[in-house]
Amino acid sequence: MAKAKTRFQCSECGSVQSKWVGQCPDCQAWNTLSESRQPAPSEGRGRLGYAGSGARGVVSLASVVDTPDERRSTGLAELDRVLGGGLVSGSVVLIGGDPGIGKSTLLLQALAHIRASGPCLYVTGEESLQQIAMRSRRLGLDAGALDCQTETSVEQILATIAERSPGLVVIDSIQTLFSEQVASAPGSVTQVRECAAALVRYAKQHQCTMLLVGHVTKDGALAGPRVLEHMVDAVLYFESDSGSRYRVVRSVKNRFGTVNELGLFAMTGTGLKPVSNPSAIFLSGVESTSGSVVTVIREGTRPLLLELQALVDTSHLANPRRVALGLDHNRLAMLLAVLHRHAGISMSDQDVFINVVGGIRLSETSCDLPVALAVMSSFRDRPLPQRQVCFGEVGLGGEIRPVYNGEERLKEAQTHGFSRVLLPAANAPRQVPEGMEVVAVKTLGEALERAF
Ligand code: TYD
Ligand code: MG
Repeated sequence: MAKAKTRFQCSECGSVQSKWVGQCPDCQAWNTLSESRQPAPSEGRGRLGYAGSGARGVVSLASVVDTPDERRSTGLAELDRVLGGGLVSGSVVLIGGDPGIGKSTLLLQALAHIRASGPCLYVTGEESLQQIAMRSRRLGLDAGALDCQTETSVEQILATIAERSPGLVVIDSIQTLFSEQVASAPGSVTQVRECAAALVRYAKQHQCTMLLVGHVTKDGALAGPRVLEHMVDAVLYFESDSGSRYRVVRSVKNRFGTVNELGLFAMTGTGLKPVSNPSAIFLSGVESTSGSVVTVIREGTRPLLLELQALVDTSHLANPRRVALGLDHNRLAMLLAVLHRHAGISMSDQDVFINVVGGIRLSETSCDLPVALAVMSSFRDRPLPQRQVCFGEVGLGGEIRPVYNGEERLKEAQTHGFSRVLLPAANAPRQVPEGMEVVAVKTLGEALERAF
């Protein structure tokens, strides 16, 4: 019989080493290697794939019977939007986010709604049943109708699921589960991967929808191996500004919908409430002050008006500070270099801070021009005109490049009463919307001249 081998696995990146070392050779993290036992090939289970449908061998796709793409509403319009229109049966969704951000609350609320159309199961390894009952009462949910279980053994959980065959299962959280087949401790890479694989396998074979809660590391990535994200059908992340009551749920992967779709919620005394008109919320009470710019982003399938703020101040440090909250700081450094090189504005003795209001993380290049204008507005201490919106990508040559969905962004600005739009020349509309002034620019120099 083949011998089980001892090996060392990194809890950050999941790489496997044959010897213990203090620093992981692959991801350079310190003290993350721990001993785990590799099951001997004869122990069998390791060979099962996680997408198995039970069928063996090669089949032609034409002979595969379609299951209708049936979507179930979660009762929360914003969550449905992020999922691409509701939960697809047999899909597995991973939900990550900081502790206390509202993952359990959101899932409990969704479960209470879906419960009406079939049996569901809420499995928790983190809280006691009393705590869940208390929370569901506080949320005004019909607690009596919810089936809950406190369990951390994945074999036990699968046995319960097989016995009751619920249409939807919530696992809170995947890191607390363990499989009896694996020797390492709960939360370790091998355990998390094995448990997730067992659950995904079951979901695919029995058309059971699963929502898995995942913990995040201090850098904000999902804890556990990256392979977890590959196994599931959709990955959602909770984002929020610390202290803010607004929560943003973003899809970073979705096999049944658009990625980067945003869903907005407000945390209230009675749980998470979907925010149906987010543009209005992020802008409420915006008075144009120096350093503040309004832009319109398009994440997923919806345009969204947002405020960006910059503060430029004389630095007393040898290396002035460059801080970007909600934005990639490399992008900020690049824009400052373009401002220097193509507009002759040097900020080498200034601290520069950028903040995206509302706790949203921006990944779009359409924010380049707004960031440059916000920085200049603070640097010159001159506010931009009231009711002005801008968007556009800034190239390394100082040119303003077009962004996609220009017309849609323009329309969103118009809907919210903005009367002046600064945009890339290539995005200029053929027909200027009524009551709007459209300023189309080709270079950064031109934009700086005409924006103020
Ligand atoms: P929770 O769902 O337990 O977070 P997670 O599962 O992501 O760790 O959310 C807990 C937080 O939400 C806690 O700080 C209190 C707050 N909260 C409210 O503000 N209102 C409510 O109705 C509920 C249930 C929680
Ligand atoms: Mg929780």
